[in-house]
Amino acid sequence: MIITKKVLRNVSLTAHPQGCAQYVQDQIDWVQAHAHASLDSRYQKCDDLKLPRRILVLGGSTGYGLSSRIVGAFGSGSDTINVSFEREPSQTKTATPGWYNTMAFEKRAKEAGLKAESIFGDAFSDETKQKTGALIKSLFGQVDLVIYSLASPLRTDPKTGTTYRSVLKPLGKPFSALSVDMDCDVVKMATIEPAEGTQAEETVHVMGGEDWALWIEYLMQENLLAEGAMTVSYSYIGPKITYPVYREGTIGKAKEDLEKTAAELTKKLQQIQGKAYVSVNKALVTRASAVIPVVPLYMAILYQVMKERDLHEHCTEQIYRLFTEKLFSGKQIPTDDEGRVRVDDWEMQDDIQAEVERRWALQKEGEPLKDADIEGVRKEYDQIHGFGFDSIDYEKDVDPRDIY
Ligand code: NAI
Repeated sequence: MIITKKVLRNVSLTAHPQGCAQYVQDQIDWVQAHAHASLDSRYQKCDDLKLPRRILVLGGSTGYGLSSRIVGAFGSGSDTINVSFEREPSQTKTATPGWYNTMAFEKRAKEAGLKAESIFGDAFSDETKQKTGALIKSLFGQVDLVIYSLASPLRTDPKTGTTYRSVLKPLGKPFSALSVDMDCDVVKMATIEPAEGTQAEETVHVMGGEDWALWIEYLMQENLLAEGAMTVSYSYIGPKITYPVYREGTIGKAKEDLEKTAAELTKKLQQIQGKAYVSVNKALVTRASAVIPVVPLYMAILYQVMKERDLHEHCTEQIYRLFTEKLFSGKQIPTDDEGRVRVDDWEMQDDIQAEVERRWALQKEGEPLKDADIEGVRKEYDQIHGFGFDSIDYEKDVDPRDIY
C-alpha cells in the first residue's frame, strides 16, 4: 500500500515503517558519533563514563523513552527491555510508530550484539509487570536502571478495576490563550474549560506516581533491582504562559504527585542503596505533547529562539545530556531545591524565556504566526511518524508489515 500521512486533531493516524526506521537510525547515528569523539564541547563522550548496563524502559517506544533506550544501548552498549502499548500492522493498516521504532531499534541493537527485547501490553496491569519480571529474570537477572516514561490517556487500577482518564485542563476557571494547529499557520484563540468533578484526581491516578511506585515495589519484592539501582521519571514545568493548562492544571497536579513519589521511592530504595529521581525535560514534539492546547504555539516560538542561539535539542540530545552530565557523570547528581534534575535548563534560561515572551506578544488572532518555527515543529511531528524524510520514496508501494 502507499502510506500517506493522515492527521486528525493533531493526532497522526498512520506511520511509515521505513521512515520510522530512518528516525531511529538518525538518533543512533547521533549518539554513536558523540559517544566516542569530541564533536561538540557541549556533549561529553560516553567512553570514560559508567552508564548502567541493564536498563528497563517503561514507555520506551517513542519520545523520551525511546531516546533513553537509544542513548543507553548505542552510547555505552547497555542491554535494554522496553514495555509499551502498540498496535501491530496488518496487510491494510499501519502499526503505531512505536511498533516500527521498536522493531527498527531491536534489529540494530541485536546486530550490534546487544540484548534488546520488548513486552507489548498495558504497563499499568499486574500481568504486564509479571511478564516483564519474568523477562528480566531470564535475560538479565536484575536491572540497574528503570526509566518510567509513560504518557497515557487512561489507566485501569489493577487492584480495583476502576478506569481513570487523564485530561489536560485548567483548574477552577476556563483558560483562553492563543494557539495554533499543527496543520494551519493561522493563530487562533483557544478556550479550555476547567476540569470538572473528579477529572483532576483521575489525571493524578493516570499520570502521577502511583503506577511508578507499584513498578518499583514489584521489582524490589522480586529482587529484580541490582544493588545501587536507579529509577528516573520525566516531568515538565515550562513557562508562565502555559502554567494554567500545564503546571497549574490537571497534568501539573499529576507531575507534583510524580515528584513526591520520587522522594518516597528513594526512601524505599535505601535498602539496596538505590535512588529515584525526576528529571524535568524540555518541551518537545512527541505524540503526547502535540495534543496539549497552546503548547504547539509555545514550541514553535521556543524552537525558533533556541535554534537561533544553537541551543535546540531533540529528545535524544536531552537524554544524552541527562545521562552523561547529570546522572552518570561520576560526580554528585545536580538537583534543584526540590530534588529534581533539570535538563530544561537551556529552555528556561532568562534570555530564552524573555525572547519567547516578546515574540508571544507579537502574535495576533486570525493572522499567520510570526517569528516562529512552526515548520520545524511540523517537520519533527512528521518525522516521529516516519514522514518527511528526503531519503524515502513515499510514492512507493510498501507492505506495512515489513521491518526495516
Ligand atoms: P510519548 O507519547 O512519545 O511516549 C509515551 C510512551 O508511553 C510510549 O512508549 C507508549 O507506548 C507508552 N504507553 C502509553 N500508554 C501505555 C500503557 N498503557 N502501557 C504501556 N505503555 C504505554 O510521550 P513523551 O512525550 O515521550 O512522554 C514521556 C514522559 O515525558 C511523560 O511523563 C511526559 O509528561 C514527559 N515529558 C514530556 C515532555 C514533552 O514535551 N514531550 C517534556 C517533559 C516531560
